[in-house]
Amino acid sequence: MSETELATRVAAAFQAHFGEQPEVATSAPGRVNLLGEHTDYNGGFVLPMALRGLGVAIAMGRGPAPGVIEAYSDTFHDAETRNIADGKEGRWSDYVLGCLKAVATEDVVETGLRIALITTLPMGAGLSSSAALEVASLRAVTELYGKEMTPEEIAIQARAVENDFVGMPCGIMDQFASSVGEPGNALFLNTRTLEHSPAPSPEGARFIIVHSGVSHQLTEDGYATRVAECNAACEALGVELLSDLGPDDLPRLDTIDDLLARRTRHIITDNQRVLDGLTALKAGDVDGFGKLMVSSHASQRDDYEITVPETDALVDAALAAGALGARQTGGGFGGSIVILAATDKIEAIGAALVDAFPKARVLAVT
Ligand code: GLA
Repeated sequence: MSETELATRVAAAFQAHFGEQPEVATSAPGRVNLLGEHTDYNGGFVLPMALRGLGVAIAMGRGPAPGVIEAYSDTFHDAETRNIADGKEGRWSDYVLGCLKAVATEDVVETGLRIALITTLPMGAGLSSSAALEVASLRAVTELYGKEMTPEEIAIQARAVENDFVGMPCGIMDQFASSVGEPGNALFLNTRTLEHSPAPSPEGARFIIVHSGVSHQLTEDGYATRVAECNAACEALGVELLSDLGPDDLPRLDTIDDLLARRTRHIITDNQRVLDGLTALKAGDVDGFGKLMVSSHASQRDDYEITVPETDALVDAALAAGALGARQTGGGFGGSIVILAATDKIEAIGAALVDAFPKARVLAVT
């Protein structure tokens, strides 16, 4: 479904639920990450791709009463009433509320707000449904109240909402890919400087995204534990950010605790894989890119320990079925894998996986 269709559908959902036309309707895409996992909160490099047609759409209109927010999700069949003064309550509307509080508290106090949302992104699939929800919310509310924010400012604000209001200590990759990325094109991003550039697509091959059927819940311990381990590793190694280290520093890891050494090795090597991957794409070296995906998965599995048996098995099965590369994508602990496949192998690989893994679903080919 195109971005325009998503916006049209959410406007219709708003009309059906509230009995009036929305004033604005907009959408924001999810993303798949191709290389560079958990490097973003370490100031490293990432290579995400905003997704075409998989995203969140939001419609908004003023009402029903000062400070009151009526939020309706057509996808979750759920209506929630919140107040702009509310704190976080552990519900999907928190993501929207956090955005409204950040940029439009006084406006909502004055006018109240009605919101409808639809999403074509499965939650917990590792494809940034929360970032898409935040970016769509900020796009809609800034348009409604005539506020100027650049796509980069929206990304930075969306991450702040997730860190400070929702309480998830994520980096900026997802919000940046959703707000600044061009759907269907990979984006090379230096998360320390926010310098970014489009990356070429592999010739003669496509990416297949397969949901393992195991949903992750990142606000649970795993993600925050990894952030804490990276901070501890910085302290042990006397650096400010793990991306201050490069491949030449790998021997230094012998001097620190084994677990912290493995976490650091993943960050150093995955960071380097993003640079090597970009070089491979620019040189048209599709096989080389695929190999980097395979070693990135191994590093996530063995050093960073964020994969699950289901995603490990799916990656192995994709490679056995002839994929050029495959890896778990996103925050981890379940979610989706991304496969690189020669165009003429896409169907066979997808069919082999769905046959062997009844819970797996092909979500997109891009
Ligand atoms: C989640 C976070 C991102 C990033 C990835 C892992 O998606 O939101 O900031 O850390 O995990 O690469």
